[in-house]
Amino acid sequence: MRIFLIGFMGCGKTLIGKKLAEKIEYDFYDIDAEIEKIACKSVTKIFQEDGECRFREFEKEVLLSLSAKNKAVIATGGGTPCFEDNMKIIKKTGLSVYIKLSAERLAERLETTKKTRPLIAYKNKDELYSFIAELLKQREPFYLKADLIIKGENANANNIASLVF
Ligand code: S3P
Repeated sequence: MRIFLIGFMGCGKTLIGKKLAEKIEYDFYDIDAEIEKIACKSVTKIFQEDGECRFREFEKEVLLSLSAKNKAVIATGGGTPCFEDNMKIIKKTGLSVYIKLSAERLAERLETTKKTRPLIAYKNKDELYSFIAELLKQREPFYLKADLIIKGENANANNIASLVF
């Protein structure tokens, strides 16, 4: 059994995933962190030096290898479910949980943490909100295919664990 946490950048996948894994005694994996290990450079550097297409190839490769792990909680990247057949792989190999937050709330949260995220690192406050609102509109149809949808405001390890088991 494996659990995939999906949702937009800044919705809390990594933090909640770590706590959830600890609680249910599963291993925790973060797709971005695994990509950085195999590429031997940061996500930002991969985008800068190799481009987004190469990043998406790494992302797919890591998703495929993590989708074979047992007893795993996997925090995906915000774009993971939205490229190629990644959402099909996620649905086929695990239970998916969408952590849903509004564009307003995401913009607030990302304002202070955008630096490590190449898609938004240099956007000012207004640009950030409109970029998020537009991209969320494009991506939500993928996220909404998740098995479970949980409001980000209420998402924590305890309530996800109780929904899953
Ligand atoms: C991305 C989200 C990031 C990371 C990369 C691209 C995206 O992950 O994979 O910067 O396309 O939304 P987080 O959702 O963990 O920030």
